[in-house]
Parts: sequence; structure tokens; C-alpha cells
Amino acid sequence: MNVQEKKEIFSSSPLGTGGKTQIGIIGAGPAGLTLALLLHRAGIDCIVVENRGREYVESRVRAGLLEQNTVTLFNELGVAERLNKEGLQHHGVYLNFNEQRIRVPFDELTGGRCITIYGQQEVLKDLIKVCIEKGIAIHFDAEVKQINNIETGSPSIVYLDKEGQHEITCDFVAGCDGFHGISRKTLPKNSYNEFRKDYPFSWLGILAHATPSSDELIYSYHERGFALHSLRSETVSRLYIQVDNDDTIENWGDDKIWEELSLRLHTEGFHLNTGEIFEKAITPMRSFMIDNLQYGRLFLAGDAAHIVPPTGGKGLNLAVADIKWLSDAFIHFYKNNKEDLLKSYTTNALRRVWRAQDFSNFMTYLFHKQAAHGSFEYQLQKAKFDYIKLSRAYATTIAENYVGLKEI
Ligand code: FAD
Ligand code: PHB
Repeated sequence: MNVQEKKEIFSSSPLGTGGKTQIGIIGAGPAGLTLALLLHRAGIDCIVVENRGREYVESRVRAGLLEQNTVTLFNELGVAERLNKEGLQHHGVYLNFNEQRIRVPFDELTGGRCITIYGQQEVLKDLIKVCIEKGIAIHFDAEVKQINNIETGSPSIVYLDKEGQHEITCDFVAGCDGFHGISRKTLPKNSYNEFRKDYPFSWLGILAHATPSSDELIYSYHERGFALHSLRSETVSRLYIQVDNDDTIENWGDDKIWEELSLRLHTEGFHLNTGEIFEKAITPMRSFMIDNLQYGRLFLAGDAAHIVPPTGGKGLNLAVADIKWLSDAFIHFYKNNKEDLLKSYTTNALRRVWRAQDFSNFMTYLFHKQAAHGSFEYQLQKAKFDYIKLSRAYATTIAENYVGLKEI
């Protein structure tokens, strides 16, 4: 059955609340919305169901680092107009260890690839705007309560909104509903293995009206703990410090945060610009994976299936990379009536996810204080840092993982 024939069958059913579609997408995060646009471009119907309101989704502060593959895909989808204007391209990254700084240059180590700094909430505003312009149905404030019949050819999504309960019948369900969503819980327990690592530290992250103190990101090991200097624009800085897992925001007054950042980011000649802090949150650090992303007609993507600690800036990029494989598989199914790409979805997507798990874990252990300054763990961290200085090959490994492998 070709795409047009499929469309005709489904367009005879009412869309909107309930009804039928080809792909039912749970979650309007980066994964769900990117999938919706890729499917729409291929002429495949979909409905997105999101349990939060549009305003909440568009203002949730999270990631900010986009790999080149992600930016390229957003350009292809026509959602990058503002990203190209307001996003900040970075061609290198600074790494500090014990107040000594080195720079890893992406340009010369990766053949000209780079990263772009652009807040996740801005990405979401752009994706939602274009989805709505193209007439893609997104139901906000609609929580999926059940996913039924995934072992049959017509699974369904049951969701609840202020008008009551609705059911969407579809050909496939895409579970793009993040770590706490319902999709992973719907997979039979014996269909996957689970891997989980909780780190013994968290990140306190702030956004501040402060001119960035550096033109590129700074990852810093300090005997007081890790710090990261990032940014969102020419007037807004994004900064993080390592804190204990049981620490609370109440312990961290603004002055104490700036003082700590200043100590931990210090290198000769460095001056930290400060300003009004307008967002403050503590995030735990976790690696999480399941090794099977599909069962019957249910396919998972993004945080629904994997979480990486944020030290490599990979979370959002992995979600988008999963979606590229998944949309190719759906499009191939409808165009050529073949299931081979659907069958190999997990294998294809997990290659990059495992690579990113390893890199994010590596970056986390390289820069966080794990044990006493001077301990065995510390000496290993220092040996790695010294080796980056010495070896172009080692620096290249870091650079190519950081900007994101072109293909994997
Ligand atoms: P999400 O963005 O989580 O989207 C899932 C969507 O599904 C949500 O909108 C949710 O409301 C919706 N949903 C859930 N359950 C249901 C349901 N039952 N019915 C309907 N809808 C549902 N990554 C980085 O690279 N750098 C960072 O600094 C960084 N910081 C982060 C800070 C926090 C607090 C968190 C939680 C994540 C952070 N990440 C970071 C990770 C990055 O933001 C995620 O990897 C990215 O959002 C994944 O996109 P996604 O679409 O898979 O999931
Ligand atoms: C961010 O800008 O929020 C950011 C950047 C790099 C990271 C994590 C977070 O590794």
C-alpha cells in the first residue's frame, strides 16, 4: 500500500480528539515533534499527544548544545530560521584541570565540524510553530493513560483531557514521552534488559543575566568540585556546579553560587561576570538504558529509552538521532511495504546511544570530584588530562565525540 492509499484510508476517519491516524506520537518534546515533521514531509499522518500545556513545554529549561547533525536536520525541516540567526557556533571547547586551561579545537581535529548553542526551549518553540503552521495535530494538556493492542496491526492510545477520555487508533505508536512516560512501562518486562547508573553527585544549574565570561564552553575540574560555564546568548550565561545528591536550592544563595563558580572556574587572567540569577535548579546525574526499543507496533525514542549524564551535552541530540532512524523506517514501510528497517531500528539507533553513553560517562568521570583530591581516582583523572595536552589522537577522540560523529 503506498503513502497516498494509506492517506485516503485514514483521512476518511475524523481526526482531532480521538479518531484514527497512521502514527500516534506520545510526547511533544524534541523527539516527538521532530518525528511529526519528518513524517508530515513524507505525507504520513500523525497525531501528537502531550500531557503538558504548550506554554509549559516551551519554557522548560533543559539542554543547550546542538550537534552539527541536529542543526543540519533542523535546516532540512525548515525549522532553523531563528536557530541560524540566534544560535552561537562554537569551534572549540576549553578544558580546565587544577586551574590550568587547554583548548580542544574542533575545526582542525574534525575537519571543520562544530556545535551550536541554542536553548532547548527555543528549539521547542520553533518546532511547535512549524508543526502548527503545517496543520499537524498536537493535543496539549492530554495525558496518555494506556497504550493498547501493540501486538496487533492497529494499536491505540487512550488519553485523558479536560473533556474526558479519547482513543486514537493507529498503525504504529511512537513513544517519545521521556524518562517518566508510559511507553517504556508498556513494553513487556521480559523484552529488554535495563542498565542504570546513579552518580554520587548532582548539578546545580543557573541562568543569569550576565555577559558570558568566555567565548566558548569551559569544563572544569577543581578540588572543590566540577563547574561548567555555558551560555545562551550575548547577555545570558548558563552555569553549573557539582553538588551533593542531598543538597537543596535553599543552601545556595546567589552570592554563594557566584563565589563557588569563581573559585572553580578560575585560571590565570579569567574573570567571571556575574548578574541577576533568574533560574536555579538541581538535576541528578544518571546513565540509563534499555537494550530493546521496540515491541510489536510500539517504538521508543529519546529519553523514553535512554538517559545520559549531561556532561557531554548529548541528550537532545540522541533523541533527534533516534528519530532519524525511526522516521526512515516508517517511511520505508509505507513507501515500499517493507519492514526490514523497522526490524533493525533498535540495532541502528543503539550504536550511537552506546557511543554517547560511553562518552558522557567518560566526561563525567574526567571532570567531577569523585574522591579525595590526590586519591587514585584523582591521579587517573589528571593522567587523562595530561594526555589530552600531549596527544593529538586523544584530543581528536574527544573532539569528534563532542561535536557528534557524522555517521555511526
Ligand atoms: P522529553 O523532552 O522529556 O519530552 C517528552 C515529552 O513527553 C514531555 O513533553 C512530556 O511532558 C511528555 N509526556 C510524558 N509522559 C506523557 C504521557 N503519559 N502522555 C503524554 N505526554 C507525555 N540534555 C543535554 O544535552 N544537556 C543538558 O543540560 C540537559 N539538561 C537537562 C535537565 C533536565 C532537568 C532534564 C529532565 C533533561 C536534561 N537534558 C539535558 C536532557 C534533554 O533535555 C533530553 O535528552 C531531551 O529533552 C530528550 O527529548 P525527548 O523528546 O526524548 O524527551
Ligand atoms: C548547556 O548549555 O546547558 C550545556 C552545555 C553543555 C553541557 C551541558 C549543558 O555538557
